[in-house]
Amino acid sequence: MLTTVHRAAALLATACIASFWIATLGVELAGSADAVARVKHAIVMPGLLLLIPAIAATGASGFALARARGGALVAAKKRRMPWIAANGLLVLVPCALLLDRWAAASLLDARFVAVQAVELVAGAVNLALMALNLRDGRRLVRQRADANAVS
Ligand code: HEM
Repeated sequence: MLTTVHRAAALLATACIASFWIATLGVELAGSADAVARVKHAIVMPGLLLLIPAIAATGASGFALARARGGALVAAKKRRMPWIAANGLLVLVPCALLLDRWAAASLLDARFVAVQAVELVAGAVNLALMALNLRDGRRLVRQRADANAVS
């Protein structure tokens, strides 16, 4: 049950960051100012409304699952999680709020581009850390299945 919650929250959080990233890059490269404003707003609402609880649920369920497990894979996942959460809450959320406000006011200037670049880099870093945690999560589930098969 807890694994199911963890897996669903983790996949939702990863899908949110990936879709924000792809939609942002796509609209910046090919969209009108109006389309940029619509995407920037959708990232805040409903985007952040999904992402923030999904990251919190992933961390809480992950740490709860880890109470019964040890080893290098769990330690690596634990080490990455504070970076994922801090990057999400302290960089991605403020960037998304600022970019939404500026795009709504058609302020697509150099300051917008600089914050947009920071958001894209932070999003890529989070996606990479989340992909590593997904990979290690799959390995942990396989390890548990193998151990159950032997005993
Ligand atoms: C954004 C961060 C994270 C992502 C994307 C993630 C992803 C996943 C996924 C997808 C699974 C299930 C794999 C499968 O069903 O094949 C999993 C399992 C697991 N995760 Fe995470 N995880 C994250 C954070 C954490 C954290 C912080 C911990 C705590 C150390 C953790 C501990 C575990 C454990 C122990 C399992 C194995 C559960 C079992 O054997 O039933 N995860 N993770």
